[in-house]
Amino acid sequence: MRIFDKNYKTIWEDYSSGLLELKVIDQTKLPFSFEIKSISSYQSMVAAIKEMVVRGAPLIGIAGAYAMCLAMQTIAQNRGDQQAIFQIAEEVSSARPTAVNLKWAVDKVIANIGTDRSASENFTSALEITREICESELKACRLIGEHGGALIEELSLKKNSETVNILTHCNAGWLATLDYGTALAPIYAAAQKGINLHVWVDETRPRNQGSKLTAFELLHEHIPHTVIVDNLGGHLMQHGLVDMVIVGSDRTTACCDVCNKVGTYLKALAAHDNGVPFYAALPTSSIDTSICDGINQIEIEERASEEVIYFDGEEDGRIRAVRAVPIGSKILNYGFDVTPARLVTSLITENGVFDASESGIKQALNAV
Ligand code: MRU
Repeated sequence: MRIFDKNYKTIWEDYSSGLLELKVIDQTKLPFSFEIKSISSYQSMVAAIKEMVVRGAPLIGIAGAYAMCLAMQTIAQNRGDQQAIFQIAEEVSSARPTAVNLKWAVDKVIANIGTDRSASENFTSALEITREICESELKACRLIGEHGGALIEELSLKKNSETVNILTHCNAGWLATLDYGTALAPIYAAAQKGINLHVWVDETRPRNQGSKLTAFELLHEHIPHTVIVDNLGGHLMQHGLVDMVIVGSDRTTACCDVCNKVGTYLKALAAHDNGVPFYAALPTSSIDTSICDGINQIEIEERASEEVIYFDGEEDGRIRAVRAVPIGSKILNYGFDVTPARLVTSLITENGVFDASESGIKQALNAV
């Protein structure tokens, strides 16, 4: 993606110190300041995942895989005990519990580590697997764009090229992935084809990934958009101002329940009530075939109360936080919710568009 006329990915390798380091775009600073952070240890990568310096299901998967490479590099450098890598894998996988991509990617790296080989051989193999994950996730997001873009094009034709209004929640754009995004990838693909579209951007309290990150991305891509409070979507749908909803997914079950940023479920209910198609766009790496019932089987991350208590923003060039809740009030801050399959119109994956059902999930996974 282009930022200030330069092409970026969200994470990249850097060897200027002689060893592997990672550079990441610090998402906690956007949109106020564009800063690149260096990460040279697995502990720093775990902290970056927890603090949401890097975030979004596909990106934390990649970041987790790189965390394993950094850990293996340190073991090789210090001639440390290779057995430690298995404990580290647990620590990395549990940095954030809801998005399945994190464990998926860490497991892929671990599956290729053999204690009968030297630590430096294991480092090389961890890096190879991580690069493969990057390649396949990049391709998946590009294809999600193509398949989802075709859906937007269809709607545009039905509307005789009038503006297609798309509502999205949270940030499932290129910042949440290595590049392209998931929910935003179809929007970018359609915009590139010259389709007339406009995006309603849910602000997405409490971290405001919509108003901060999605708006930042769309501005840089020159895509018409309007930031709205999270509670406006239902009203807009009742007035025919939303043609489709596209969201991402942190974990989609074998029965096609979609777990995504908290508030997604309410948008799906409103969409259902108003006959608005509701799409979940996701790479198949976000599918967890080990569970069916998303509501009862997915661990929903509970985050710090401070995220709800304080609003942060920019004032006079400095990022500041201000209290928005009285001292003494209790806070509950779950980060995700589950949209049952019955409220999802279809899944947009790298392998095509599929029914939001158990058989749709099977087809998405088996299609080549
Ligand atoms: O808490 P976050 O910002 O990591 O949550 C991100 C989301 O909920 C995204 O919609 C999801 O990861 C899909 S991303 C392509």
